[in-house]
Amino acid sequence: MDLQGRHFLKLLDYTPEEITYMVDVAEKLKAMKKADEPMDVLRGKNIALIFEKTSTRTRCSFEVAASDLGMGSTYLSPSVSQMGKKESIADTARVLGRMYDGIEYRGYGQEIVDELAKYAGVPVWNGLTNEFHPTQMLADLLTIREHFGYLKGIKVAYMGDARYNMGNSWMVTCAKMGMHFVACTTKDYFPDPKLVQECEEIAKTTGGSITLTEDAMEGTKGANVVYTDVWVSMGEPAEIWAQRIKDLSPYQVNRKIMENAGENAVFMHCLPAFHDLKTEIGQEISKQFGMDELEVTDEVFESPASVVFDEAENRMHTIKAVMAVTLGADKKLGICR
Ligand code: CP
Ligand code: NVA
Repeated sequence: MDLQGRHFLKLLDYTPEEITYMVDVAEKLKAMKKADEPMDVLRGKNIALIFEKTSTRTRCSFEVAASDLGMGSTYLSPSVSQMGKKESIADTARVLGRMYDGIEYRGYGQEIVDELAKYAGVPVWNGLTNEFHPTQMLADLLTIREHFGYLKGIKVAYMGDARYNMGNSWMVTCAKMGMHFVACTTKDYFPDPKLVQECEEIAKTTGGSITLTEDAMEGTKGANVVYTDVWVSMGEPAEIWAQRIKDLSPYQVNRKIMENAGENAVFMHCLPAFHDLKTEIGQEISKQFGMDELEVTDEVFESPASVVFDEAENRMHTIKAVMAVTLGADKKLGICR
């Protein structure tokens, strides 16, 4: 297995074996980190982190993982980079590619990260676009495997906006890994039919399946994983909250949904989550719409079934794995297959 020099733009570009390999490497790197074993085999290398949207987990994961592997990192915030304003994406890619050994991009359209990859000459990693969030998927796969011991056959019920980065990514991931994806939402929030068709074709070869349903009870029945995300994503206008609350409230993850899924089901969320009033936006929404918890109730979020902080930790180990395999650290560490 040799992924050195590859970009990491979306999971559609990877085979199930390659995806499994990255999760395996993450698991090994996690064990090494817990055992305090050194892993700084990429000393002398540097990475650039372009963030056109805000982040806690993804940014910290890249920075900590880079440091653990011995690399330096430069954070380019939404306000300081010239990219797109005074300098084209292609020129930015060629400049950064001369200085850095890898580039992370978080921002808007998938075409931007694709363009960076085309011109950079070094591996480019997608830290979230409007369409996909592939590093989150590896973290979630590791978390599910840690919890259940396997991936194939796992049923993931995805509640809420299933046509954006998280819904799309989950549908692709389930198709690739022989898992069962169920989008539970209103028709307007079903994923793009072209992507659904592509995933259905892939699922035929892996034993996975894709289901779209408006019936939250039917969709979550017997699910191993009940997954949700914020109802309004980064970059979307605040004015759409009213419509989203109206459309997606029936798909809130609450006790009734978790009981319907079954006693072995886990609750997952990429985070950040609106489950209480301890955020500015949460308070704002509460004042305007009288809802104190949105996509998930505080009860479910804080329940033993919730594995959201395992997921958050696993962002770091899996992002480290992505950098390790695309920069050849797996070979240097002797953990390659
Ligand atoms: N889940 C996730 O990507 O978190 P951040 O937005 O904090 O990076
Ligand atoms: N759909 C969310 C995911 C955050 C990790 C967003 O794009 O804001």
